[in-house]
Amino acid sequence: MDHFLYREGRLHAEDVALAEIAASVGTPFYVYSTATLQRHYRLFEEALTGMDHLICFALKASSNLAVIRTLANLGAGADVVSLGEYLKAKAAGVPGDRIVFSGVGKTKDEMRAALEGGIRQFNVESEPELLALNEVALSLGKRAPITVRVNPDVDAKTHEKIATGKKENKFGIPISRARAVYAEAAALKGIEVVGIDVHIGSQLTDLAPFAEAYGKVAELTEVLRADGHNIHRLDLGGGLGIPYERSNTAPPLPIEYGAVIRDKLGHLGCEIEIEPGRLIAGNAGIMVSRVIYVKSGEERDFLILDAAMNDLVRPSMYGAHHDILPLDEPQPGTLPQPYDVVGPVCETGDTFARQRPLPPMVAGDLVAFRSAGAYGAVMASEYNTRPLIPEVLVKGDQFAVIRERPTYDEMIKRDSIPSWL
Ligand code: LLP
Repeated sequence: MDHFLYREGRLHAEDVALAEIAASVGTPFYVYSTATLQRHYRLFEEALTGMDHLICFALKASSNLAVIRTLANLGAGADVVSLGEYLKAKAAGVPGDRIVFSGVGKTKDEMRAALEGGIRQFNVESEPELLALNEVALSLGKRAPITVRVNPDVDAKTHEKIATGKKENKFGIPISRARAVYAEAAALKGIEVVGIDVHIGSQLTDLAPFAEAYGKVAELTEVLRADGHNIHRLDLGGGLGIPYERSNTAPPLPIEYGAVIRDKLGHLGCEIEIEPGRLIAGNAGIMVSRVIYVKSGEERDFLILDAAMNDLVRPSMYGAHHDILPLDEPQPGTLPQPYDVVGPVCETGDTFARQRPLPPMVAGDLVAFRSAGAYGAVMASEYNTRPLIPEVLVKGDQFAVIRERPTYDEMIKRDSIPSWL
């Protein structure tokens, strides 16, 4: 459930009519609902009740300071994969001891900054990284708390570009090598082993791969404890999927996911960490865009919008589906007609949807792309020298711009012309 609903025929974010935001900030823009962010966070809290746990919001899904602060105020930690994300988490008010650092390519500079600024743990993904971290920690006179990310060789049954838990993927170390790597870690003076990490992929719509992976983590916990390691924390990654197509998908609920965790790992007495991104932010955000032209082609009608693939890249990058809603609720009995919904960018890939049934539209109409709160704004670019679109946060009947649209002047000033030109 989210808080984007029609009221008196107009699509609202909580108590604010989206058309009002459009009139105030211009289109296109992203808008997030505070109540939905909070609700989704609390669903995970409920799902893990009774187990010692920390919910680390994956900043890669949405890294606006206001979004992070909304969650941090509820007690959320952060899962970060770059120094930029680390600094944003801190700037939004997440204390270092609630930040976990993931990612296959952490640099020594990033390690140093996190060790100095405070960090809960590094999720180490390779032996060379382990050695680098040891060196950095020793140079600072510190011990770096770590988990090792194990790759359980489980098929997450999701889009190939976002599956991470198969042995051919670049992530983690093969679970078969775990004992050797933990032994190596235990011998390093700059390293403190605290637990195990696993993340098998994103947009999972089936619990079975989680159950399989977590079962393997449970076995590994026993084995590593028997080897003398102090495994007291299990980071289970993110990945729970959301219903992008409301009409025909119903992924598992957080409460069901929590039951899998309890069932597979509850007996171990470990602190549980999870790193959800999409489920918290995805359906808490939409992108609003205006129809520039309706173009009748020979075979099909095109809805040409002022938003493009650079603003929301998921459809062209992954073939992802986003529900599209008109801001004005269609009158009962209105017959939908199929449109190819496209942006103004000069390539055919700039297509949001083909033959999508929508009520008849005219230039100037406003539409909303649902489920755009995760991996939307964060993946945007300025391709075609189009300014990054603003982000807005709604809370009840209030709204605020939480990232401004840059001016063309600002964009142009970022380049510089060398003296020889
Ligand atoms: N933890 C780790 C280590 C991850 O790699 C990811 C996502 C997450 C947590 C959060 O997963 P989530 O709960 O959001 O599924 N750009 C793609 C998604 C890439 C996900 C990458 N890793 C998309 O738009 O679908």
